[in-house]
Amino acid sequence: MSEIRDVSLAESGRQKIGWVEKNMPVVGRLEAEFRETRPFAGARFAVSVHMEAKTARLVKAIMAGGGTVSAAGCNPLSTQDDVAAALSLEGAEVYAWHDETPEEYKAHLLLALDGKPNVVIDDGGDLATLLHTERQDLLPHVLGGCEETTTGINRLIIMQREGALRYPVIAVNNADCKHLFDNRYGTGQSVWDGINRTTNLIVAGKTVVVAGYGWCGKGVSMRAKGLGAKVAVCEIDPIKAAEAWMDGFDVMPMDDAARIGDLFVTVTGCSKVIGERHFGLMKDGAIMCNAGHFNVEIDMPALERLAVERREQRASIMGYRLPSGRWLNLLAQGRLVNLASGDGHPAEIMDMSFAIQLLSAKYILERGHSLKNELIFLPAELDRLVAKYKLESMGVRIDALTGEQERYLNTWNLG
Ligand SMILES: NC(=O)c1ccc[n+]([C@@H]2O[C@H](COP(=O)([O-])OP(=O)(O)OC[C@H]3O[C@@H](n4cnc5c(N)ncnc54)[C@H](O)[C@@H]3O)[C@@H](O)[C@H]2O)c1
Repeated sequence: MSEIRDVSLAESGRQKIGWVEKNMPVVGRLEAEFRETRPFAGARFAVSVHMEAKTARLVKAIMAGGGTVSAAGCNPLSTQDDVAAALSLEGAEVYAWHDETPEEYKAHLLLALDGKPNVVIDDGGDLATLLHTERQDLLPHVLGGCEETTTGINRLIIMQREGALRYPVIAVNNADCKHLFDNRYGTGQSVWDGINRTTNLIVAGKTVVVAGYGWCGKGVSMRAKGLGAKVAVCEIDPIKAAEAWMDGFDVMPMDDAARIGDLFVTVTGCSKVIGERHFGLMKDGAIMCNAGHFNVEIDMPALERLAVERREQRASIMGYRLPSGRWLNLLAQGRLVNLASGDGHPAEIMDMSFAIQLLSAKYILERGHSLKNELIFLPAELDRLVAKYKLESMGVRIDALTGEQERYLNTWNLG
């Protein structure tokens, strides 16, 4: 029995799912194949991914391939209640509502696990963590998992290093067709969509500080520049910092950036990237938001403690007045701004990410219990297949090697 906010919202959710369906042709193509071949027949899935329209599209494709799905969100603010309602009428068990308390969020994940999954699709690693702690009794059912995002991969790497990982997991995030597009172009666009619709302010001429120049940070910085901002990047990795510098951005520590920024975006996967000492340095009216997976990148407990007044400035913008009299603004409670204050990545981007998810799940089920309990990288030919389908869906043609070129590229003695 699903646990959702209000089933009467389903029509609006159906409309949203219908719209993304038209714009996710690769998932549609795989779904059509899987409807015939039924690679998921009899398999039970637990899915914890942002409960919005593109995820509903993924779940529908899994069900078309014969799987049954119990789905929860992966973040308390990213669930769209109308989509959850529509999906619950499509045959999935759905346990999610917008703005869950931490207790409700966890209870919903546990309900999704009660379906005794064979395949676990995680975005951030919360299902994996519960399976390895409170619900170890379910581990014998699990053939494997798929992890969608960098933060989840980082958690799994630590589990593997400590010898704790008890089932194989495909590093979906690390497929080229995922991070090169989703993390960079998806986050790059949707973060600005979230910020712009929340603030209704101009970006051109502002100083935007981007913390983290990984795949997401590159996209966020690139699009900030395109909108006319002056961009400063904060990094801890000298290589990424050098890359940002050569890409034409200012690079500096947060202690310096805090003084000059008008708008701050954290996207590191790390905690307290903007902390207590930075708040005291910031300009009056500075705006902060986070695009990393968890709401720990901006030290909100410290902000709450320091503030002498707290007032909502506009929907999803909380203002904090510091003892100095300056106001600082925080968007979307410090949760991923593109999903908590927007609709997440564009459908065409999630088309590639979720095609990788579908092929990863098929890969696991085809191999049964034969995979080792480790982080697994999807074979390059499956990654290329998704890119090929994507290009075909866009009507883009590319060259192929001639026999002579093939031989040349496979010859070391060129003399
Ligand atoms: N908002 C979204 O829709 C979305 C999409 C994909 C990924 N994510 C999340 O965004 C985060 C970043 O993902 P990514 O793929 O860019 O990861 P990444 O590993 O490619 O990049 C993270 C960067 O942050 C830097 N960094 C780490 N700690 C830092 C600190 N204290 N100060 C400054 N820089 C620091 C690292 O050196 C690295 O270059 C993760 O939490 C990921 O799960 C969000």
